[in-house]
Amino acid sequence: MKVLSENAARTLLNAFNDAGYTEAQVRKHLGAAELPSLQLRNVARLLDRTSTATELNTLLRWFWVGVPVAKANAEKTIPAEMLGLLEQTGLIAEQGENWAATVMLLHTDGFLVAADHPSAIERHEADLVLWPNPTSKFLAKFAIRRHSRATLDLGTGSGILSLQAAAFSDKVIATDLNERAVEMARFNVWLNGIKNVDVVAGDCFAPVAGEKFDLILSNPPFFITPQSDYLFCDNSMELDGLCRRLVKEAPEHLSEGGYLEMLCEWAQVTGERWEDRVAEWLRGTGCDAWVMKGVTQDPEEYAQRRVKEISQDPGGDAEAYAGYMNYYRQRGVEAIHDGLVVIRKREGKNWARIEEVPKTPSGELGEMIVTSFAAQDLLQNADTDEAFLKLRPKLGANVRLEHVCAPKEGRWTTDSLTLRLISGFPFHMAVQPLVAEFLVTCDGTRTAREAIASFAAQVKAPLERVQSECQALLWKLIERGFMTVENS
Ligand SMILES: C[S@@+](CC[C@H](N)C(=O)[O-])C[C@H]1O[C@@H](n2cnc3c(N)ncnc32)[C@H](O)[C@@H]1O
Repeated sequence: MKVLSENAARTLLNAFNDAGYTEAQVRKHLGAAELPSLQLRNVARLLDRTSTATELNTLLRWFWVGVPVAKANAEKTIPAEMLGLLEQTGLIAEQGENWAATVMLLHTDGFLVAADHPSAIERHEADLVLWPNPTSKFLAKFAIRRHSRATLDLGTGSGILSLQAAAFSDKVIATDLNERAVEMARFNVWLNGIKNVDVVAGDCFAPVAGEKFDLILSNPPFFITPQSDYLFCDNSMELDGLCRRLVKEAPEHLSEGGYLEMLCEWAQVTGERWEDRVAEWLRGTGCDAWVMKGVTQDPEEYAQRRVKEISQDPGGDAEAYAGYMNYYRQRGVEAIHDGLVVIRKREGKNWARIEEVPKTPSGELGEMIVTSFAAQDLLQNADTDEAFLKLRPKLGANVRLEHVCAPKEGRWTTDSLTLRLISGFPFHMAVQPLVAEFLVTCDGTRTAREAIASFAAQVKAPLERVQSECQALLWKLIERGFMTVENS
């Protein structure tokens, strides 16, 4: 892939837009945005959809379906200047009487991104460069989009996280062990006219020795596998060793207050609780941490999924499956968990919050991370009753009370009351009617001490008991983001 002048990048991007190779048009034209895949058996449909000789169809056949186009057809449908640029950049290459694309081109978040075609997995290309995919989009949603003096995107692949981070960072350094990814990411930086991203090759933090960052993003190869078939997904170390290594080494590259946000998987082995392994990663890092656990799979389920992903030939399934299962059995792996690890460098006594979180978070998730860290700091500082009771808790604007009634003796009677968050993680919590009434009176004007005392008087219950129960409840609600807090 070759990078040309700034002007050439602009001309090329405009040419794709003018031809209708835009996110909306591609979706409309193909009827669905799914990638071409042997497993999905959708190639015949995509070829049919793109069968007439038009400029857009030629581009789609090259850069989406991934099939060659006869030179005569290409010359008829693609303007000469664009064809020249496609050839000079190496986006297409001659193949006998045809031109064939060397990459796939996808739209993500307003960028046009080159990556390898999904058929590269089917061809078992070990150094394939991953396209923007659900994991990159997931991490991007959680990225803290506050001003960053320097951002590191470790394991950049196509460079998608760096392209996004360029908007809120003074500079971005994108690194990858795979030289092909480095080349692809540099190309994407150029194609999208981005000026503040440098792409460098190297293993883990080696390319940024001695440098510090306000934000480190990483979607590393985290699959827990017995072999390293693919650089983009197979963790090359024992079990979850690569993710552990990144967490252990990241603090040296974080400025005070800087964050690492990293997707990962970790194993649970015989005799351990699910959180033990990841808790060990965090120890001694000098960072506060929030580990958000997502899905848990048992080894059988996990191995079956991996086998399906890597092989189209059912004939090899038994051997591949046995390879995975022997690896897990020998090491006593009982479960594999996935999640997002966020650590923040901070001097002083650090805290760690490790928990399972609900699926389908929504809203400004980068901001949610920052406010959750701030809430946890505040709770850590209010670690005596005296300090906690001075806080002024306030029910958040993103909280709803769900009242469920059931019919009973000809009337609707309350079945349950549930507090729900409508942004961030959709945490929920059952509450008693009187408690719901108490919480709504917490509006930030009264201290926790005042609010609890008045509630105890109202329910005519001993202050001491009400205070200890309310304190525990308020703590949980503040931690989970149902309540914000003002200091007195
Ligand atoms: C799952 S892909 C993520 C790509 C991209 N960041 C995204 O989110 O779409 C992981 C990337 O890490 C790179 N990688 C693998 N091992 C690495 C290592 N030891 N150091 C740096 N990068 C590595 C792979 O080449 C691959 O590009």
